Amino acid sequence: MVNIGVLISGSGTNLQAIIDNINRGEIKGKIQIVISNKKDAYGLIRAEKAGIETLYINRKEFNSVEEYNRRILDELKRRKIELIVLAGFLNILTQEFIEEYRGRIINIHPSLIPSFCGKGCYGDKVHQMVLDRGVKITGVTVHFVDEGTDTGPIILQSSVKVAEDDTVETLKERVLKVEHELLPKAIRLYCEGRLVIEGKKVRIK
Ligand code: GAR
Repeated sequence: MVNIGVLISGSGTNLQAIIDNINRGEIKGKIQIVISNKKDAYGLIRAEKAGIETLYINRKEFNSVEEYNRRILDELKRRKIELIVLAGFLNILTQEFIEEYRGRIINIHPSLIPSFCGKGCYGDKVHQMVLDRGVKITGVTVHFVDEGTDTGPIILQSSVKVAEDDTVETLKERVLKVEHELLPKAIRLYCEGRLVIEGKKVRIK
């Protein structure tokens, strides 16, 4: 069993998908803690309902982003977390954090990286940019986290067609459906030891 820590900022539908997969016995892992940087994140309630320990850590209580990250890191290490999943965690991690957990942090992004990603490109903004640019295909990427923003080795990708009459809401809904398949799948593969990072590439054994 892999000890998993999930970081969230919002509604936590991806967290819910992971919980459901674990409950069905599809992932050889256990979520030990869900940490949020937002007090009112609905994902915290989802976790509580599932009997998972939750923690809200307020950035404003720390003098620097480094101290804030160190606190999150301490909480994860104290619980012997082996895999960190960023499930809609809309915050940048520090170098120290990433070094400590290199190759053991997974992020989900609601577009086909390297399109519509990078600094300031997250959540609904991504779908708005996709619609504004008029692309016909968008999608989902699950990747390992490195020091850059959305630049780490890609584990899985899946495409979603953009419809002419799509709004942010309708597109987001279809993309989320795919996210809820892809993120648990990547975690399952990780927990089975089937993901091999080779430079920028991830080989699935
Ligand atoms: C998801 O669409 C996820 O891909 C996105 O935030 C949303 C969280 O939804 N993440 C990013 O944009 C990261 N750059 P959820 O809280 O319902 O899982």
